[in-house]
Amino acid sequence: MMSKTIKKVGVLTSGGDSPGMNAAIRSVVRTCAYHNIECAGIYRGYQGMIEGDFIPMGPRTVHNIINKGGTILKSARSKEFMTVEGRKKAHDQLVNAGIDALVVIGGDGSFTGAEIFNKEFNFPVMGIPGTIDNDIFGTSHTLGYDTALNTVVECIDKIRDTASSHNRLFFVEVMGRDAGHIALNAGIGGGAEEVLIPEEELGLERLLESLKKSKAAGKSSSIVVIAEGDKIGKNVFELKDYVEANLPEYEIRVSVLGHMQRGGAPSCFDRVLASRLGVKAVESLLEGKSNFMVGMLSDKVTLTPLLQAIKGESVIDRELLRVSEIMSV
Ligand code: F6P
Repeated sequence: MMSKTIKKVGVLTSGGDSPGMNAAIRSVVRTCAYHNIECAGIYRGYQGMIEGDFIPMGPRTVHNIINKGGTILKSARSKEFMTVEGRKKAHDQLVNAGIDALVVIGGDGSFTGAEIFNKEFNFPVMGIPGTIDNDIFGTSHTLGYDTALNTVVECIDKIRDTASSHNRLFFVEVMGRDAGHIALNAGIGGGAEEVLIPEEELGLERLLESLKKSKAAGKSSSIVVIAEGDKIGKNVFELKDYVEANLPEYEIRVSVLGHMQRGGAPSCFDRVLASRLGVKAVESLLEGKSNFMVGMLSDKVTLTPLLQAIKGESVIDRELLRVSEIMSV
């Protein structure tokens, strides 16, 4: 039995955008329509909430967006929402607009805002994890991660063509400020020689050793995937200079993939995930639940308390490190 207390759900996207956010907006809007409640889109994340930048949304306003990257609601990182005054303004705007529950699509920064907002105003909130980094506790996949992995692997495949034509070593930098999920999985999927991630201090010496070994093993070209948050202590260009100075036999090129990883049409996996999580978020709110993140664990849609999702660590699967090492023999 659905509770009757919620009449209008607000939905926003916040923080770094990710492919699949539009599919999640669509799912939230259509689930609201399915249960005969209203839905309002909130533009530019929490900043738009403070400014009352709302738009009524119905099933037809979200047509033709399931296949689109980015977010039609736009995203922002709001400094004002970090203040009590900002959050008070935002609350007043929601009350004025008759919005009585909130779905926040974003990463842990966005969830932290939602959690505080819930505590301060006892306002029902649900989080949907949307970030390409996959660094959120309580879900095996965040929205956009699968798409980003496929984008990165496609780029590595192209880089491989030119690397092998010139017998070159390529350093490919991928996104992941604090997490190496993209680097590790795309590294394995792209057949990288080495993967450098923030969670694991490989060390410069080991990198040199590994590159020496691969030359000795008869490899004429190689790809090293480096997460942008890697802790080796040098940025990717300094790393190139360092390796070239120590291993002059290598001709190295750097490719920083950057924001292209965040764009593009979401994969089928991300579209299905977004649809499932949106349904669960709205229906959980209607059941009177609040302050959870919806996620997916072992292919089941689950609820994790927002605080746990924020505080918990999304750990790297160490078996993947071993697989990566074995594959580069
Ligand atoms: O959090 C997702 C992410 O794409 C990180 O991997 C990256 O470090 C960051 O966002 C970049 O943020 P911005 O687009 O604000 O520079």
